[in-house]
Amino acid sequence: LDYYFTKKDLNGKKIIVTAGPTVEKIDYVRYITNKSSGKMGYNIAYEAFKRGADVKLISGPVSPFEVDCVDKVNVNTNKELKDEIDKEFDDADALIMAAAPTDYKVEKPSDVKIKKDGNNLNLELIENIDILKYFGDKKNQQTLIGFAAETDDLINNAQKKLEAKKVDYIIANDLKKKGAGFDVDTNIASILSHKSIEKLNMMTKRELANKILDLLV
Ligand code: CTP
Ligand code: CA
Repeated sequence: LDYYFTKKDLNGKKIIVTAGPTVEKIDYVRYITNKSSGKMGYNIAYEAFKRGADVKLISGPVSPFEVDCVDKVNVNTNKELKDEIDKEFDDADALIMAAAPTDYKVEKPSDVKIKKDGNNLNLELIENIDILKYFGDKKNQQTLIGFAAETDDLINNAQKKLEAKKVDYIIANDLKKKGAGFDVDTNIASILSHKSIEKLNMMTKRELANKILDLLV
């Protein structure tokens, strides 16, 4: 019912939304990942659908709620996430990177299970592909929106990401604030563009999703 009463102000716009963490293998049974519930990305995808957009949701291995109405693809690694975005990017109107891609990976994961032998295991981790930066370099007509999850120096760090990744907006989240960050349904975010900073009050992820989509309108 909600669908019928929502204004279709994103009608026909193609919006790629990424959500959740990615995972990278260490060996056959072990992996490294990032903390991410996927709630922000799923809320954005669902609200964009209600507002009439053609939504492509690309999700890491989480499923905070069912979104049967949108076109969804599941991925595991950064490479898979990047490749799926690439398939949709050229004629997209926007890319919203709510995913938390894994920053590091093991260069050559073992394809058998590593056995414990009573000694420490040293892993060399290499930096993973920065997906948002890749598409920032590639962008034409697309509006790019990224996030910044920080524990300190929020605005400064977010501003650096805005420049380095060549995106239009960064949604900055102070992970340590009460009512923000992990395991809660609310956020206290700031929206940074190249011209302005807007500090938002505490709101639900659903409300924030709509604030973010308003940037596209
Ligand atoms: N991002 C990405 N690819 C990565 C890492 C992050 O596309 N390998 C995107 C995220 O989806 C987010 C933005 O970049 O939209 C910022 O992510 P964040 O983790 O806050 O910053 P990083 O650039 O990874 O730097 P750090 O984790 O060291 O703060
Ligand atoms: Ca990161």
